[in-house]
This record gives sequence, structure tokens and C-alpha cells, in this order.
Amino acid sequence: MTVYQATASAPVNIACIKYWGKRDTKLILPTNSSLSVTLDQDHLRSTTTSRADASFSKDRLWLNGKEEEIKEGGRMSTCIREMKRLRKEEVEDKNPNEPKLSTFNVHICSHNNFPTAAGLASSASGFAALVSSLANLYALPVSASDLSLIARQGSGSACRSLFGGFVAWQMGSNPTGVDSLAVQVAEQSHWPDIHALICVVSDDKKGTSSTSGMQRTVETSALLQHRIKEVVPRRMEEISKAIMERDFDAFARVTMADSNQFHAVALDTEPPIFYMNDVSRAIIGLIVEYNRVGVEEGRGYRAAYTYDAGPNAVIYAPKENVKEIVELVVSYFPQREGSFKDNFGLFGGGQVVGRIP
Ligand code: ADP
Ligand code: DP6
Ligand code: CO
Repeated sequence: MTVYQATASAPVNIACIKYWGKRDTKLILPTNSSLSVTLDQDHLRSTTTSRADASFSKDRLWLNGKEEEIKEGGRMSTCIREMKRLRKEEVEDKNPNEPKLSTFNVHICSHNNFPTAAGLASSASGFAALVSSLANLYALPVSASDLSLIARQGSGSACRSLFGGFVAWQMGSNPTGVDSLAVQVAEQSHWPDIHALICVVSDDKKGTSSTSGMQRTVETSALLQHRIKEVVPRRMEEISKAIMERDFDAFARVTMADSNQFHAVALDTEPPIFYMNDVSRAIIGLIVEYNRVGVEEGRGYRAAYTYDAGPNAVIYAPKENVKEIVELVVSYFPQREGSFKDNFGLFGGGQVVGRIP
């Protein structure tokens, strides 16, 4: 008996220009384009195994060992349905000898090797790994951008995790969503000198999910309108240019400004949303000071912080500064015993700065 099973992993991505707001909540079409860096596969990742079998009575999902309900009409069920449709159209209809896997139910098992729903982009790696594992299972002859259209319908940020390196999610304009997809701006090898440090301030599940938080922002924030119309289009140009020119100073300025504005629109939401905490803000203070000294010494900005929908800091920096930044962070935020993971090898071989405080 043939076993139809496939496994795939996907890394998280951390946005420099943040996605925050949907113009279509069902298709997950964003109110603005976004751009992120995909971290190395080796560390923060989701690994997903999918199996199709004629004997399965329904689609089922286990996340980190616990079964989760697949709600009808929900995101997980949409992704599975769309992948089955591609299997039928791209494989079975074209080659009648292929097994009709699109008619079988699937069992899916996924693990994250980092905190889930804590603002470290688990929904991004999670849905990217899901779509990739089904694409392997179904032997789909489709591109990463094609798959990004489906991952997007699981979680918006997931569409960017189908590529490595520097990735843009183009918001698109078609109401069907066909042009709202991810494209690679540059491979990691274009700028391998950039490293990412993850400072885990808290691995608690966030109080307000990204999905509900951004919807509330769309409904209540006037600042968001300014952001999506005036600010983000310009920043997408600026950051793309900074990446192409490997201009860290410009990359850092845009990245930090966009993190700040994202948290400002969260605050401008009614009722307000706070994702950062005192430790997050103290880390910002540290990086601001570090950059002030860099500018004084004529070296420009040397590090960039960014925060997603949670208190955990991601610090992008050129490799030569990483050791110094780790020492700085550790000296201000002594690590709990055993939590410091040195040389963790993130994007371009960066590090994880354990747990703070
Ligand atoms: P995060 O900041 O971690 O992305 P979100 O609130 O955006 O937090 O999304 C968290 C949700 O994403 C989880 O509650 C779960 O529904 C989904 N998710 C996380 N990891 C996976 C995974 N490996 N496979 C499928 N879905 C996942
Ligand atoms: C702050 O992709 O998690 O991380 O599409 O509702 O699943 P849904 O939201 P999600 O939002 C991510 C928001 C962010 C910024 C970003 O990754 O661009
Ligand atoms: Co998410």
C-alpha cells in the first residue's frame, strides 16, 4: 500500500515594513504592501507533515501535539481546499493516471520550535510550512509566488515566508486577490552581512491576536489612513533601494521608523493596543544610544530594532557589530541561567539573546 505523506519546514520572517490592516478579511488582502527578512531555516521554524489517505473521514490538524479544530470556512480549511483544487487542476486533470489525492482527506501535524502566538510570527512560518508540505505531497508544479497566494489566505504574513532573503508582499489591486502575492526582492546572499538577533522578552501568548488587533485598527484609527496612503508607499521604495545598495544606515532608519509607526497605529486604535512593554522600550533606548555614538564616530547607524505584535525585539545589524550588541544587551538585561543561546545562527548566522529579564 502506498503511503502518501510529505514534510516541509518554513522559517519565520520579520517585517521591516509592517503589514497591519486588511481591505478584505476573507481573502486576506492588505491595506498596504510590506517587506520582510526571512530568517534562517535552522532556528525559528515550523515543520509540518501532511498525509492523505482514502480511509480518513475528515481533515484533521495537530499543532504542537494538540489537536486543533479545523473550522469550516476558516483559514486552515481554505488553505487545504485551495491546495486540493490545485492538485486536481494541475496534476489529476492533466494526467488521469495520477492518484486522486484531491479526493482524500488529510491529517496534518505541525510543530513550532519557538513560542506560538507570542509575536514571533508563528502564523507566518506555520501557514508557509503547511502550504509547502501539501505542495510536496501533491507534487504540484507551481512557483513559490503561486503558493504565496494560498499561504496568504491562511495568514497574511505567511506569504512572505515562502521565499528566503528580502521579500516583498505586493498588496495588489485586483479584488480577487490574484496580484496580492510575495516576490523576492533580493536573496540572502545579496547581503549576507545582515544578522538578526532575537531578544525573547516574553514567550506568553499575546493578549490581542494580530488578526483582531489589525481589524480594530482599520475600523478606528485615523492615523492608519495617513500611514497606508502617504507613508508606506514611500518607505517601500526607500527600503528596497537601501537593500539593493546594501546601505545599512538607510535600512536601519526606515526599519525603526516603521516599527515605531506600527506601534503608534496600535496605540491610535480604540480601545488602544499595547504590544511593547517596559523591557521592549528599554531595548529601544539602548539601540538609540548605540546609534547616537555610531553617528558621532562617523559610522552611521549600526543596529535597527523592530517589534511585531508582541514585546519581543528583533535587532538587525551588520555582522561586525553583533558581538558588541549582544554584550550590551546582556550587560543591561542579565540573562536567566541557562537561557542564553550563543551563536544561534539566525539570518546570516546571527544569534538569539535568550530570555529577558
Ligand atoms: P504570531 O505572532 O505568532 O504570528 P498570530 O496571532 O499572528 O501570532 O497567530 C498565531 C496563530 O497562528 C496560532 O494561534 C495558530 O492558529 C496559527 N499557527 C501558529 N503556528 C502554526 C503552525 N505551525 N501551523 C498552523 N497554524 C499555526
Ligand atoms: C505585526 O499575518 O499574523 O507581524 O493575516 O490576520 O494572520 P493575519 O495576521 P498576521 O499579521 C502580522 C502582523 C505583523 C507585521 C508583519 O508581519 O508584516
Ligand atoms: Co502572525
